[in-house]
Amino acid sequence: MAEDSAASADKKESMPEPPPQPEVTPGEEFKENVRDFVDKVRKRREAMTLVGWASIATFCGAYALALVRFFFPRVLFEPPNVFKAGYPAEYTVGAVDTNYQKSQRVWIVREPEGFYALLAKCTHLGCTPVWKEAENKFKCPCHGSGFTKEGINYEGPAPRPLERLKIAVADDGQIQIDKSIKFRQEKGDWEKPGALLKA
Ligand code: FES
Repeated sequence: MAEDSAASADKKESMPEPPPQPEVTPGEEFKENVRDFVDKVRKRREAMTLVGWASIATFCGAYALALVRFFFPRVLFEPPNVFKAGYPAEYTVGAVDTNYQKSQRVWIVREPEGFYALLAKCTHLGCTPVWKEAENKFKCPCHGSGFTKEGINYEGPAPRPLERLKIAVADDGQIQIDKSIKFRQEKGDWEKPGALLKA
């Protein structure tokens, strides 16, 4: 027995010691910290670069859009001021023709003494009145102004009569309206040539 324990003690003594675990030296730890720091700085710089390019791209896009707008402005195509409105014989005496209300904003009225053209624009705030044949008047839907068939304001807030437009006969015999020439009743313009086309 004694011999066995002596032999095992000898065995233990002869077993090699485990190799020492490598320790992180202060120098390596410092290097590691430096690497981390450099990595963070690099990532931040990349992010800043990305933001910079995005800003430049946005600016360039806005500038290009402004250039396009400058060279190709949005043009409002309005109907020409002068238009033809058919032959006098096509009109019924006593009737208000509303065929050109939508396209030209004009009514043409045929009376026994002749024709006149009214601008379909309320003199209050510019809405388009409606011709009410049963009531024999133009009625503005916005604030209730009413105008006689001649264009005289008589109810609601409209401060003055509707405007008349120059009316004549064109070379081809058709009625021709010139919207650039207006006649205002309160200025005595309705008596002037061009305000009425005599029948
Ligand atoms: S716009 Fe016609 S009544 Fe006001």
